[in-house]
Amino acid sequence: MHAWLCENPIGVDALVWKELPTPEPQADEVRVAIRAASLNFPDLLIVQNKYQMKPPLPFVPGSEYAGGVEAVGAGVKHLKVGDAVAAFGGTGGFATHALPKAALVMPLPPGFAFDDASAFVLTYGTTHHALLDRAALKAGETVLVLGAAGGVGTAAIQIAKAVGARVIAATSSDAKCALCTELGADATINYGGDNLAKLRDEIKRLTDGKGPDVVYDPVGGDLAEPVFRSIAWRGRYLVVGFAQGGIPALPWNLALLKGASIVGVFWGEFARREPQANAAALTQLAQWYAQGKVKPVIDQRLPMVDLPKAFAHMGSRQVRGKLVMTNA
Ligand SMILES: NC(=O)c1ccc[n+]([C@@H]2O[C@H](COP(=O)([O-])OP(=O)(O)OC[C@H]3O[C@@H](n4cnc5c(N)ncnc54)[C@H](OP(=O)(O)O)[C@@H]3O)[C@@H](O)[C@H]2O)c1
Repeated sequence: MHAWLCENPIGVDALVWKELPTPEPQADEVRVAIRAASLNFPDLLIVQNKYQMKPPLPFVPGSEYAGGVEAVGAGVKHLKVGDAVAAFGGTGGFATHALPKAALVMPLPPGFAFDDASAFVLTYGTTHHALLDRAALKAGETVLVLGAAGGVGTAAIQIAKAVGARVIAATSSDAKCALCTELGADATINYGGDNLAKLRDEIKRLTDGKGPDVVYDPVGGDLAEPVFRSIAWRGRYLVVGFAQGGIPALPWNLALLKGASIVGVFWGEFARREPQANAAALTQLAQWYAQGKVKPVIDQRLPMVDLPKAFAHMGSRQVRGKLVMTNA
């Protein structure tokens, strides 16, 4: 097998593409021949030692991937050789083969393409947990999605529309806003450059002065405070991530004045602590995929050896939807 190995977590340049012995699964593992692995922002953070999870060195980055089961550990009951699967292992995906715990592997229904499946479990699982579980988003409510043209952002547009919510998609450019409109967003806001100063006015205009009921925020930084100041009475502000780099600090009186909640979202921990609730969410998402209600937006497919190019594209804020690395 070959894998991108992180021996020193000082950044993408230190990753090396190495040949390694093909491993045999332990009792609770399976070996997956990887066909596709998608990039998630945490993959970029983890190779720089900036992510909350710090795996022992060396490790293979790549948090979600899909492929075929090649070997099954003695204790594994729900999977067999030849099954098409998606896996969320946290690491291991940027390789030709991986050994995920079987509990973190989902058999794919017929017709589920590997490149879509590689961009599904974490990306859509996070967003389903955020919008439907943590924020209890309802049909007819308005959700404001920040960074709406990115991986979890595009998933948020689709999931919110699937439950009948109104979506305002906010991004840093007109081109990204246009993609969000194509995906079904009801309105868009470009907060790039000087537009940031007008963000609150735009939110007010698009919500008749009421503000969004739910905010989905994977960006953080200097967007959070003006947006939280604009939230509706009883609003729910979902803290999903900090792609801009800065962790916002808010005056707590704002929460009091709006009767609003700041709601944390940590899908990996949810999946570990509440596996049955997570499995139910993934089942609903797979049904929505089969019905065409959700489908990963794939920006580019690149050969696995081109991982550094893909990381550069993500780090320079250019991704629209998902980047997928493939093995022939
Ligand atoms: N809480 C959880 O369980 C969970 C799970 C998965 C991901 N996340 C987090 O969600 C965030 C987004 O992940 P993703 O995989 O969707 O990433 P992504 O596809 O790269 O999207 C991130 C978006 O953030 C915006 N952004 C603002 N400043 C940026 C910068 N300096 N560099 C890059 N992007 C910047 C960009 O939108 P604009 O250009 O439009 O601003 C970009 O589209 C990350 O912080 C990630 O850690 C959290």
